[in-house]
Amino acid sequence: MKSVIVNGYGGAEVLKIKEINKPTPKENEILIRIKATSITAASTMMREGKPYFGRLFLGLRKPKVTTPGTDLAGTIEQIGEKVSRFKVGDQVLAETGLNCGAYAEYICLAEDEIIIHQPENVSVEEATGILDGACTALAFFTDQAPIKKGQKVLINGASGSIGTAAVQLAKHFGAEVSGVCSGKNKALVKDLGADKVFDYTKNELEKSNEQFDIIFDTVGKLSYFKMKKHLSKKGLFLTPVLSLSTLATMLFVSPFSAKKLKFAATGMRKPELKMRDLIKVCELLKTNKLNTVIDRIYPLEQIQQAHAYVDTGRKRGNVILQIGSEKA
Ligand SMILES: NC(=O)c1ccc[n+]([C@@H]2O[C@H](COP(=O)([O-])OP(=O)(O)OC[C@H]3O[C@@H](n4cnc5c(N)ncnc54)[C@H](OP(=O)(O)O)[C@@H]3O)[C@@H](O)[C@H]2O)c1
Repeated sequence: MKSVIVNGYGGAEVLKIKEINKPTPKENEILIRIKATSITAASTMMREGKPYFGRLFLGLRKPKVTTPGTDLAGTIEQIGEKVSRFKVGDQVLAETGLNCGAYAEYICLAEDEIIIHQPENVSVEEATGILDGACTALAFFTDQAPIKKGQKVLINGASGSIGTAAVQLAKHFGAEVSGVCSGKNKALVKDLGADKVFDYTKNELEKSNEQFDIIFDTVGKLSYFKMKKHLSKKGLFLTPVLSLSTLATMLFVSPFSAKKLKFAATGMRKPELKMRDLIKVCELLKTNKLNTVIDRIYPLEQIQQAHAYVDTGRKRGNVILQIGSEKA
């Protein structure tokens, strides 16, 4: 089978397509023929091995896992004799997390991993595209800062993968939502349900006196200190991007302020929490309360171009990699 293989950290050129043996499921495993996976901002950081402290988990000198890719949609082709949750032909969605393996034609996963039946009314591209951004945003809005109806929520990076999902989720939970993006993405963010949109290229937020109960900086571009004036009395500043300054602020500054800074590595939480979020996200997707924003779709053969595009930091929503020749 075809699989992307990496043998070191670096730019998009480290991603090579190779022929390797198709895996065989063990008695508790399912064999999935992968049809689509998404190219996430996190997967480009894992490819580069940056920030460097991430290598403590990913592998010090080179990646521990040779096939990247953390989420997938596909069809079950074979099951082990002890598998009871799934059958051959089921269409499933899975999150593989740090075990990766989704940039390939096939993968074997134990049936008790983060796997769920794919909602029937969505395409494999929409399904896999929603996993990273929406599950991350939902985790923040559930565990770090549960949204109360009527609260004012600001989403920075509202045109990205986490951002496009966060705008829709915050709106779904009854918040008054503002988004921050560049002028070219204002219409998109409005269409997703934002009540107000600030253009970051014109410093529109900084010029305003608005305050928010929650500021979710999905792209890690804002300063907690500069944003404090935009936080309400007990406002929360959330970010999924860890830097040394974020860590230091979280440990030494935020505990002594009524306005807290919170970071979470949502992909490293307990499996039952990840499963809870995946189920909820699929429910919302199925009932059209959440939609996947898809920017570009690439075939597996263009894996390097797909990563290079995500490297630009300019993607709108999600970038999908289609795998296999059959149209999904
Ligand atoms: N902690 C966790 O559990 C976790 C989980 C998943 C991802 N992450 C991390 O979260 C971050 C965001 O991921 P993502 O996939 O949502 O990003 P993304 O989709 O790659 O973000 C791209 C978007 O960000 C916008 N953007 C760029 N600079 C901006 C700025 N200064 N202000 C506002 N918007 C700006 C871009 O719009 P323009 O082109 O208009 O600039 C673009 O639409 C990544 O660092 C990722 O590694 C963390």
